[in-house]
Amino acid sequence: MVRHETHTEHAMETQRIGIVMNGVTGRMGTNQHLVRSITAIIEQGGVKVSPDLTLMPDPILTGRNANKLQALAETHGPAAIGQPYKFTTDVDAAVNGKHGDYEVFFDASGTLQRAGFLEMACASDNIKAVYCEKPTATETSKALAIAEMVEKAGKKNGVVQDKLWLSSFRKLAMLKGLGFFGDILSVRGEFGYWVFTGLDLDQPAQRPSWNYRAEDGGGIMIDMFCHWDYVIRNLFGPIQSLVAHGNVDLPKRRAEDGGVYDATADDSAYAVFLLEDGTVCQFNSSWCTRVRRDDLLTVQVDGTKGSAVAGLREVYTQAAANTPKPVWNPDIPQPINFYEGWELVPNNIEYDNAFKIQWELFLRHVALDEPFPWDLRAGARGVQLAELGMQSWREKKWVDVPAL
Ligand SMILES: NC(=O)c1ccc[n+]([C@@H]2O[C@H](COP(=O)([O-])OP(=O)(O)OC[C@H]3O[C@@H](n4cnc5c(N)ncnc54)[C@H](O)[C@@H]3O)[C@@H](O)[C@H]2O)c1
Repeated sequence: MVRHETHTEHAMETQRIGIVMNGVTGRMGTNQHLVRSITAIIEQGGVKVSPDLTLMPDPILTGRNANKLQALAETHGPAAIGQPYKFTTDVDAAVNGKHGDYEVFFDASGTLQRAGFLEMACASDNIKAVYCEKPTATETSKALAIAEMVEKAGKKNGVVQDKLWLSSFRKLAMLKGLGFFGDILSVRGEFGYWVFTGLDLDQPAQRPSWNYRAEDGGGIMIDMFCHWDYVIRNLFGPIQSLVAHGNVDLPKRRAEDGGVYDATADDSAYAVFLLEDGTVCQFNSSWCTRVRRDDLLTVQVDGTKGSAVAGLREVYTQAAANTPKPVWNPDIPQPINFYEGWELVPNNIEYDNAFKIQWELFLRHVALDEPFPWDLRAGARGVQLAELGMQSWREKKWVDVPAL
C-alpha cells in the first residue's frame, strides 16, 4: 500500500489503491464498474473516510483488445485523472507489478473466464484483494473451490451483490424495520423484459449472445438466481427449499457477428423459494416477456398489516387501513382503480449508484479492514441456488438447500 502525503491546511492524507480492472470492455465492466463506480469515485474526490483520510482508486484497464482498451482509457481517463487511464493486454504482468503497484484485482469478464483470472490474481503476491462479478462459476463445487483458494491465499475478497443497494430494496428493508408489514406472508418477484432475438428487421438484440448459450455460461437461472439468493436472504431470511422450472422459449437468435445461433440456455425460469420461517417467495424471470408493471423488476411483499411493491428505485405501499374491498363481478367495468390505493415512499435521502456504493465499501474493507460479508463464499451460495434450480427443473421436484 503506497501512502501519498499531500499537505493541505489539515494534513489530509490520500491513500492510493491500485486496481487491475479486467474484462472492463464488457457491458458491466464499462458501464457499471469503470464509468459509474471507479471513475465516479475519482471524480467525486475519492472515498472520504475521515476528515484526515481519503481513499483514491487508481485503475489499470486490462482485456484482450488493445484498441478497445485504449478507446476506453481515452474516453474516461482525462476527465477523472487529467490523462488517459493506463491499460494493458497483459493481465499477468499487471497483477505481478510490471505496470506499477496494484493491490486489488477486479474481474468482470465472462463467467467461464472468471476462475482462470482469479487463479492468476491469487498466485500473485502483489494482489492483496480480489473482487468480481457474479456468478463466480456455473457450478457450486467450482464456486466453492474458488472461494477456498482465495481464502487460503489470504486475500480479502468480494462478489458483486449490487441489488442490495438498490434504493427500492433499501426502502423495503426500512419498511420491514419499521414493522410496516406486520407478519410477512409472501413475496412475489417479477423480473424480465423482451430481449430481441435480432432476427427481425431493425430489431437488434440488446444483450450479449453468450447469455443464451449454456455452453458459454449463459442461462437465466444461473444469471438471476444468484441475485435472488442474496436479495431474499438479506431482506426476508434464508431459503430452505425450492421448486423451479425453466425453458428455452426462443430457440434461435442472432449473434454479434450477424450469424444465427441455437439458443441452448433457459431464457425463462419460474421458481418458488420456501424460506426457513415459512415465508413463500415466488420469482418469475424471463427475457421473453413484455412489461406491463412499474419496472423491469418488481417485488411485491404482502404482510398482515400492509403491502409494498418495489421497482428498481421507487416503492409503493398500501397499509391495512387503506386496502380497498374488491368484489368479483366481471359483468361490470372494474369500479376500483387499484393503482390509486398506493402511496409512494418518499426519497428522504439521496440514493447513489448501487455498484458504486458496494465498491466504496470494498475499498474501505481493503484499506481499513471494515467488514465485507459479501465475499466469494456468499457468491457461491448464489451459484448453489441456481444449480439447485436446474436440478429441480430436471428432476421435476422440490429440493432442499443444504448449508454450504
Ligand atoms: N451484477 C449484475 O447485475 C450483472 C449483470 C449482467 C452481467 N453480470 C455478470 O458480469 C459478467 C460480464 O457480463 P457482461 O454482460 O458485461 O458481458 P459482456 O459479454 O458484455 O462482457 C464480457 C467481457 O469479458 C471479456 N472476455 C470474454 N472472454 C474473455 C477471455 N477469454 N479473456 C479475457 N476477457 C474475456 C469480453 O471481452 C468482455 O469485455 C458476467 O459474469 C455476468 O454474469 C452481472
